[in-house]
Amino acid sequence: MVNVNIGLIEFNSELYIESVALRQDVLRTPLGLKFTKENMTNDANEMHIAATDGDQLIGVLLLRPLTNHTVKMRQVAVSEAYQGKGVGKQLVAFCESLCTSMGFKQIELNAREVALQFYLSQSYEQIGEQFLEIGIPHFKMIKNL
Ligand SMILES: CC(C)(COP(=O)(O)OP(=O)(O)OC[C@H]1O[C@@H](n2cnc3c(N)ncnc32)[C@H](O)[C@@H]1OP(=O)(O)O)[C@@H](O)C(=O)NCCC(=O)NCCS
Repeated sequence: MVNVNIGLIEFNSELYIESVALRQDVLRTPLGLKFTKENMTNDANEMHIAATDGDQLIGVLLLRPLTNHTVKMRQVAVSEAYQGKGVGKQLVAFCESLCTSMGFKQIELNAREVALQFYLSQSYEQIGEQFLEIGIPHFKMIKNL
């Protein structure tokens, strides 16, 4: 397991700017897509959580409060060299503790089909049928905190 530090980062900070590049590399470039300004308009209103190894950014995750009860987890990305080493699991666990401490009761997310097993292993439940988002299959998942 990697010696990873996880914490909230400020919107528009240096780490935030690095995290946008990581999101592009891990979540968009493999699909031949680019983030547009419109994609980023909500970033200022979301919580940004980063995983670092020393001064290197290795993972990112965004949380968007939908109601006082529910938070949407999105843009979960671990840099390729660090995938499969427990970083994603620690990022998700950190966010669950954070959301619980803030009084939220549920996390929801749209999981890519390739990440379904990852979220199932972290006790997220698949809800409903497969649907397309950014052109690839996704499943809605929830976890009660
Ligand atoms: C999906 C992702 C966030 C998982 O993070 P990770 O650091 O690689 O995963 P972890 O090493 O923490 O794995 C945690 C558990 O999930 C399992 N797992 C992780 N990725 C998996 C996959 N693609 N398929 C099956 N199981 C997987 C691991 O085996 C591990 O199980 P264990 O706890 O029993 O050992 C990361 O691989 C990633 O960024 N992938 C590319 C982008 C992506 O698909 N993001 C999700 C968008 S919804």
